[in-house]
Amino acid sequence: MTHSVTIEPIGEQIEVEEDQTILQAALRQGVWLPFACGHGTCGTCKVQVVDGDVDVGDASPFALIDVERDEGKVLACCATVESDVTIEADIDVDPDFEGYPVEDYTATVTEITDLSPTIKGLHLKLDRPMTFQAGQYINLELPGVDGPRAFSLANPPSQADEVELHVRLVPGGAATTYIHEQLKPGDELNLSGPYGQFFVRSSQPGDLIFIAGGSGLSSPQSMILDLLANGDERQITLFQGARNVPELYNRDLFETLARDHDNFTYIPALNDADNDPDWKGFKGFVHEAAKEHYESRFAGNKAYLCGPPPMIDAAITALMQGRLFERDIFMEKFLTAA
Ligand code: FES
Repeated sequence: MTHSVTIEPIGEQIEVEEDQTILQAALRQGVWLPFACGHGTCGTCKVQVVDGDVDVGDASPFALIDVERDEGKVLACCATVESDVTIEADIDVDPDFEGYPVEDYTATVTEITDLSPTIKGLHLKLDRPMTFQAGQYINLELPGVDGPRAFSLANPPSQADEVELHVRLVPGGAATTYIHEQLKPGDELNLSGPYGQFFVRSSQPGDLIFIAGGSGLSSPQSMILDLLANGDERQITLFQGARNVPELYNRDLFETLARDHDNFTYIPALNDADNDPDWKGFKGFVHEAAKEHYESRFAGNKAYLCGPPPMIDAAITALMQGRLFERDIFMEKFLTAA
């Protein structure tokens, strides 16, 4: 049994099956609603029910307090519908967002590589192409692991029937331990996607500054490969932070891109280079490399950040001190798959 849900103020109508949440149905029909955690704890997906019957589901009492429930608010990631419904959502979709529908896929592992001592490159072949925007992520299901885990796509959208993921081993983390220790070529996995609002604002001018740390290189890699393959002429700079030379992965790829494209600059930064006496590159944190290169003047540009929270915080501070507005800084959040 399905019911229709009308989403105001955009006037979109979606069909929601009995066992589907409003959010699942919207994403699968290419309608973007704001969300983050996806399981009723953060409150990002709160919407107002204007008309019809809705079951609030497993919404946390902290994310949806009693007075909000009384006012008819629900969390779209938990709520199921019991009649045709009209909701009002706070939707602010960027014009550069392409909004492809989320679908389920089966994928076969083709290759697992050692990118660094702590990061594996996982390559999958999809049962059919997935249309996505560079910078987005998938939800991957793993045997024996409770719930799916989010991983950013590192391949560009032109490689639509492949998936490349960079997976850092999180000590004690069930999903990343499984990928590092048990997964092997030939294994089949289920995944869904694409998800996420981290993408290049193609219509906006200015240099593109990418600041990446750890396995956070995946989204910037997809975005940069996509931009360069499409002949984007803006100045693109990748600052890649790592602890030491062994942790600095895919360096050859970016050095080759920098040689082949006048508008692409690659600046790796090592924050613990003492044991690498041959290292001639930048020594220090990646945000310090960006400050030095831009002489702390970032105004008029766009910055895309992906990496561990302390790196993101330090980069935001440096960029804003260098006169970059908050609205020109984009970052990937909630990608802490363990
Ligand atoms: Fe976090 Fe719904 S997305 S509560």
